[in-house]
Amino acid sequence: MKSKGKVRVAVIGCGVISELHLRCYAHNPHVKVVAVCDLLPERAKRAAEERAPGARWTTDAAEIFADPGVDAVSICTDHASHRPLACAALAAGKHVLCEKSLAVNAADLRRMLDAADAHPELVAAGVFQHRFEPLPRVLRALVEEGAFGRLLTATGSLYTLRDAEYFRRDAWRGTRKSEGGSVLINQSIHYFDLMLWIAGGAASARAYSANLGHEGLIETEDTIAVSLRLRDGGLGSFVATNAGIKQWKSALEFQGTAGGVEIRDDRLAWLSLADKAAEKRVRARIDRALSSGERLFAKGKAYYGPGHQAQIDDFIKAIRTGGRPFVTFADAAQSDAMVFAAYASAAR
Ligand SMILES: NC(=O)c1ccc[n+]([C@@H]2O[C@H](COP(=O)([O-])OP(=O)(O)OC[C@H]3O[C@@H](n4cnc5c(N)ncnc54)[C@H](O)[C@@H]3O)[C@@H](O)[C@H]2O)c1
Repeated sequence: MKSKGKVRVAVIGCGVISELHLRCYAHNPHVKVVAVCDLLPERAKRAAEERAPGARWTTDAAEIFADPGVDAVSICTDHASHRPLACAALAAGKHVLCEKSLAVNAADLRRMLDAADAHPELVAAGVFQHRFEPLPRVLRALVEEGAFGRLLTATGSLYTLRDAEYFRRDAWRGTRKSEGGSVLINQSIHYFDLMLWIAGGAASARAYSANLGHEGLIETEDTIAVSLRLRDGGLGSFVATNAGIKQWKSALEFQGTAGGVEIRDDRLAWLSLADKAAEKRVRARIDRALSSGERLFAKGKAYYGPGHQAQIDDFIKAIRTGGRPFVTFADAAQSDAMVFAAYASAAR
């Protein structure tokens, strides 16, 4: 269904990430933010006053869903509330952009996919903003084109720290019920998603998880090691911890029968193809992606990357043109499903 004029957006959840959504909506000329919502009135009021001038604020998302003057919602709340909010929004005829992870467990994920399927006239998009950045896109294209031959292995990692203060600040963090897990479903999910997306997806996952640095503080994992069977037959491996030192250290590596590539932080760390002329061409494409001004990941909060603007523009374009967003619920759910498969395996 096409929207005429500006798309009227409401942002639900006015915590950390909502600021970025509001900033990106403000930069899109086809959007008017008409409402913001948070269970905490002071957060909703502040967001309206400081980041969405002219928008009304409320503590009740049901009010937003009942408002015919709202076309679309951004869901920026804790993980467990994504499913009820997204399903209610779709049932009320609103387009939905939902932050990662879509859900806290496989059952909720299924219900969200069913709700999206029941409303093909609505745009249901899941945030994985790094899929919009040039380097992951080039790597995905290279794998698809067979530049590395048959993909044998995909490996990824993230080493960071989330301290006691972080977990104490918001009650939902570090709980099975509200966050669904910790380091895999939250801090490292973007790298896990990129690894799987670039590799063409995974069919199954096994894992070990542990709480090595946050015992007595959180009930979920702070460290995880996942083994994956990739859809194309290769094997994957992913490790992450948020119990290390204060850093943001990541790696992605893809190895195939014709060569491989390694990305460390936001840089090309290593590239080697058996065919050296092909290697030169691939290196030039990767260099162009890197120098296009957008980094895969930078330090500090900038590690959210530049992708949110591109993803929000894509969401609004899909609403205005009746098109498909680049990351549908179904697309995002592929990585979420592997997160839940890893957790189920670790629990066994
Ligand atoms: N894409 C990214 O890079 C990125 C980065 C940070 C956070 N996130 C995601 O964004 C989401 C929010 O994270 P955050 O760090 O902003 O959390 P936060 O705790 O700072 O904010 C969440 C807000 O949602 C509100 N809320 C909860 N339930 C609500 C409801 N039913 N109605 C209205 N408001 C409600 C809370 O009161 C809180 O103010 C999570 O899914 C998180 O994983 C994504």
